[in-house]
Amino acid sequence: MANTRYDSDCFSLDGVDVEFQSGETILQAATQAGRFIPHLCSRPGFHPGASCRLCVVKVNGRYASACTLKATAGLEVESRTSELDHHRRTLLRMLFIEGNHFCPSCEKSGDCLLQATAYQLEMRGPRFEEFYPNRQVDATHPDILLDFNRCILCGLCVQASQDVDGKNIFAIGGYGIDSHLIVNSVSGKLGDTNMALTDRAAHVCPVGVILPKRVGFAVPIGERTYDAQPLASMAEEKAN
Ligand code: SF4
Ligand code: FES
Repeated sequence: MANTRYDSDCFSLDGVDVEFQSGETILQAATQAGRFIPHLCSRPGFHPGASCRLCVVKVNGRYASACTLKATAGLEVESRTSELDHHRRTLLRMLFIEGNHFCPSCEKSGDCLLQATAYQLEMRGPRFEEFYPNRQVDATHPDILLDFNRCILCGLCVQASQDVDGKNIFAIGGYGIDSHLIVNSVSGKLGDTNMALTDRAAHVCPVGVILPKRVGFAVPIGERTYDAQPLASMAEEKAN
């Protein structure tokens, strides 16, 4: 079923026509059409960081990230194939074992995009050996807690702080397996920055790293964003 926006061309996504407007990426057009392409580091209003690789699709037989590739008419895009979903589950498993993601005790459970994506893609078990890295929690800020254990290095907080808040609170430091989130203050502590609870960066984290204090369980687990509906059906509903 094609959607019905005007002045647009179509590409094929898993055999279904998707209309797009000039300049839209494959992910943007698919989202507008209510078609779910898994993604973690892309967010409307932010430029794509292209770091998570969950959105990689096959375009005319070649791999490409849906969050960066502009849609053009006539493309044949494959996304929800068993091969691509298998690769996505592998990426998810690597993210889960690289940090410490204890979902049952995490206050972001039910609101976490990583967890919801793993459910959507039916990831069962880590399969790889857990790293169990030793990462500290930073509770020095009066209103915001940082739990570095859950960072998936999506870069959204870096972008939000720089481009929306006009600050420079966060950065990603290191390379490869040593990549990690950094707080830009002399002490490296959030309490020594001018971050405010009203900052966009305080509310952009897709997982449970940047957490406003004192509201963790105001909405009970079981009644949260992704508890009620799987991601794919949320995408369909938003488009209708
Ligand atoms: Fe992304 Fe959150 Fe890590 Fe920032 S703290 S890079 S928003 S996962
Ligand atoms: Fe495209 Fe993360 S959403 S690489």
